[in-house]
Amino acid sequence: MNNDILNVLISEEEISQKVTAIGKKISEDYKDKNLLMVSVLKGSVVFMADLMRSITIPCEIDFMSVSSYGSGVKTSGVVKIIKDLDINLKGFDLLIVEDILDSGMTLDYIKSLLQQRGTNSIRICTLLDKPERRQVDLTADYTGFTVPDSFVVGYGLDYDEKYRNLPYIGILKPAVYEK
Ligand code: IMP
Ligand code: MG
Repeated sequence: MNNDILNVLISEEEISQKVTAIGKKISEDYKDKNLLMVSVLKGSVVFMADLMRSITIPCEIDFMSVSSYGSGVKTSGVVKIIKDLDINLKGFDLLIVEDILDSGMTLDYIKSLLQQRGTNSIRICTLLDKPERRQVDLTADYTGFTVPDSFVVGYGLDYDEKYRNLPYIGILKPAVYEK
């Protein structure tokens, strides 16, 4: 698995420090709010699991699963809900937790969908941001790292469902997806 990685972009330790810092900030910002963390499966589960444990105020969690049509390394922009949230969102301050903000189409769609359900507020927390590839006007409220326009894997992020279990974030060798 490690042989398919061109280089380590963000180490385990860098991720851990950043996640702790974001958790601290969220704990302060939401101390008088009604925090519900929403993880978009599957890419954000690793980030979600670490982030929620660095949050020191009461919060609830829920999961949703969407698929951006088209496999491979690019999003098509068409989003389909595979699994919706279980919790009634009325009165919650939602924090959508994502692995990576790329074109922004997936999150833009999810955000506008959830906005119609009586939430107090909705913010976005993304571990990675690839601003060069943005196709919609969307910025995250909390961002871990800004990354270059390369395909990255690890710490939850996949290529063809693999590499999610790498503890660091690495750039995938183009030969892997050009095959
Ligand atoms: P967007 O709709 O283009 O912003 O894409 C969002 C989704 O595409 C992410 O949640 C990821 O699942 C996937 N994605 C985008 N870029 C990468 C990458 O570099 N590595 C792995 N997955 C990615
Ligand atoms: Mg993915």
